[in-house]
Amino acid sequence: MSTTAIPSAAGSGSAATDKFKGNRVSSDTSKERAAAIYKDVLTKLGEVIFEHEVTYAEYRVLKQWLIEIGDGGEWPLWLDVFLEHFIEDSNSRIFTGTKGSIEGPYYVPDAPNLGSKGTMPMREDEKGTALVFKGQVRDLDGAGIEGATVELWHADSDGYYSQFDAGLGIPEWNLRATFSTDAEGNYEITTIQPAPYQIPHDGPTGEFIASYDGHPWRPAHLHLKVTAPGKRLITTQLYFQGGQWVDDDVAGAVKPELTLDPKPNAAGVDEVTYDFVLDPVSDARYVA
Ligand code: DHB
Ligand code: FE
Repeated sequence: MSTTAIPSAAGSGSAATDKFKGNRVSSDTSKERAAAIYKDVLTKLGEVIFEHEVTYAEYRVLKQWLIEIGDGGEWPLWLDVFLEHFIEDSNSRIFTGTKGSIEGPYYVPDAPNLGSKGTMPMREDEKGTALVFKGQVRDLDGAGIEGATVELWHADSDGYYSQFDAGLGIPEWNLRATFSTDAEGNYEITTIQPAPYQIPHDGPTGEFIASYDGHPWRPAHLHLKVTAPGKRLITTQLYFQGGQWVDDDVAGAVKPELTLDPKPNAAGVDEVTYDFVLDPVSDARYVA
């Protein structure tokens, strides 16, 4: 068995923080809505404190840990693992197309476009089992959508994402690409199957997990963003049926509709078909 390299929290965390900080974000939240949300958050936090009779020592440990998470650049890691799945679920419940899942901290826009069919950028000696991943992008009526974009990014077989590799020298766009569906809405991608992935746990996020005797594993996954003009952008992930940690994802981001079961094709290469169904843009608040 090969050993799985562990991306250091300090390395990939600060890269994720720098990328996030590079893009100033805003929301049009009203003062009334902000007041309602903050009041509820604090009231519910207060209830937990009373329920568990949280001690002063525990409060001080929390304060110290919050400072360390920030100093270590680990907010993107911690938030995307432990909170993002609630946000995603809450925002996607009204839609009927393909289910979404969390984006995680390692998305980079504008990956090279390879048309409707191609092989992901990878190193000559890229490790991992080949995978042909293909399908169709459709609307809710079942019609194929020409020119839909399918962005795919995933970790290598050691669990590293390009551009967040803590100085390992992985090429910039390794295992990241954009595809555009053909006239029938079809795409076909050749890549390698990623391995299960440990979120970086050598820093305060790891301390948090160890403090409740948890584990840092996510099941192997492909990250995707799929959209087309007039259609809702879905950000999602696909997992491998029966794979390790599929039933116990540290990030709580697996949904049963989002699993793949590749089988060898005529050429003996693992292949799987996954079709995406896009909702029309119906409610501006929910356009990601
Ligand atoms: C994290 C990494 C991922 O690849 C992912 O999908 C979600 C979260 C993380 O390290 O925080
Ligand atoms: Fe990921």
